[in-house]
Amino acid sequence: MSAKGGCAWGAKKSWQTLMIVGAQWGDEGKGKIVDYFAKDVDYVVRYQGGNNAGHTLVVDGEVYKLHLIPSGVLYKNKRIVLGNGMVIDPEVLVSEMDSFTDRGVKLNMLVSDRAHIIFPFHILMDGMIDEYKGKLGAGTTRRGIGPCYADKAERFGIRVVDLLNKEIFREKYNKLFDLKMNTFQRLYRQKVDLNKNEIFNHYWKLGQKLKKYVGDVSVELNEAMDQGKTILFEGAQGTMLDNDHGVYPHTTSSNTIAGGVCTGAGVGPTKIDRVIGVVKAYLSRVGSSPLPSEGNEKEAAHLREKGQEFGTTTGRPRRCGWIDLVQLRHAVRVNGLTSLAITKIDVLGGLKKIPICVNYKLGNKIISNMPASLDIFRKCQPVYKYIPGWQDLTEADFTLIVKKGYNALPINMKKYIKIIEKEIKVPVELISVGPDRKATIKIK
Ligand code: IMP
Repeated sequence: MSAKGGCAWGAKKSWQTLMIVGAQWGDEGKGKIVDYFAKDVDYVVRYQGGNNAGHTLVVDGEVYKLHLIPSGVLYKNKRIVLGNGMVIDPEVLVSEMDSFTDRGVKLNMLVSDRAHIIFPFHILMDGMIDEYKGKLGAGTTRRGIGPCYADKAERFGIRVVDLLNKEIFREKYNKLFDLKMNTFQRLYRQKVDLNKNEIFNHYWKLGQKLKKYVGDVSVELNEAMDQGKTILFEGAQGTMLDNDHGVYPHTTSSNTIAGGVCTGAGVGPTKIDRVIGVVKAYLSRVGSSPLPSEGNEKEAAHLREKGQEFGTTTGRPRRCGWIDLVQLRHAVRVNGLTSLAITKIDVLGGLKKIPICVNYKLGNKIISNMPASLDIFRKCQPVYKYIPGWQDLTEADFTLIVKKGYNALPINMKKYIKIIEKEIKVPVELISVGPDRKATIKIK
């Protein structure tokens, strides 16, 4: 293992690989936490999902919105990687690349040759399928994520490597395009306006723009580890959206939990040293599913406005509520979390009392593990423990607190953190009290 000095959390690193995953429903503020750790690593890697994700980074007051490119991009001399487990819309990737190069950011990027490509027909299909599902739909981001992963599972997908070989690309594309058109017309009875050749030529050109970044992610990462380089794996979405361990079918189509890194980047499970779960101090969710600790209209509106809970990718207002420890215990277990980073705790300031959902109740029965049954989950009621709140603090207050460190936090905020630690049995390592890089407090 490499052990470079001067890192964000003090002395020498005792790890070589670190994962940062969303412990809730996505939008936990992973981008900021990844950014916090990214300055000390050699690689930042994404391994699942696509441009359904959205991170906002604020560096020295400048706002950056990322959908595909990993958060480490803003540091110089860092290699950023898009793993094979991702589904990539090349149109989005190229325009995101341009937005960085236009602002003078140099890209040191590797895109997996095995990642799958999202086409316009995937995007159209995404909306049609989700609408057809009605109440059983996830309220997808309409970015074509599910249909693209479905083609991958069907072994009909087109991968990045295929985009670089015109004959193979044409052979695969023709088959896939015709099948999709048939599906639209015969199954969905929809007339769609997609020009087969135009899309082919456009995607071929996009492939040519990506070409110099394409390579074998598993080979490079494993060689890097052998050379003692440090790697940060950046999860997208959150644990409850994992297709196996989330609230199926209200999930995304990839494995968002820590295990997803093994399949999505070609790195063995024995190579992961630490897994940090990012937890928002309250709850937010875009899209549909039961959400036992969702606040009432007034509470949700308060959290949404104060926390600016609107989707980075879709702009959709997020549903908001209170922290759910049943769900967090599940996240600790399925990810093997080694510590937590709590974000947006400043948003809870000014409330008289703060509810913490410690269990669910179904009739007279207490439920402390996430049920697999959607029917049971729909009927679960939250069991709340209330703790007294703390005063609303300004940015200036927090700047002072950040300088003094953890002990300077309001006493009830520290109690809130302690209750979470005690209930889920994982230490809280970091708290974030504002969007800026500097508004972060390390807990020893
Ligand atoms: P899809 O990933 O677009 O198929 O959407 C499936 C579900 O995951 C929907 O409920 C989305 O709102 C949700 N989702 C997907 N990506 C994110 C994300 O990055 N943050 C929060 N929710 C997400």
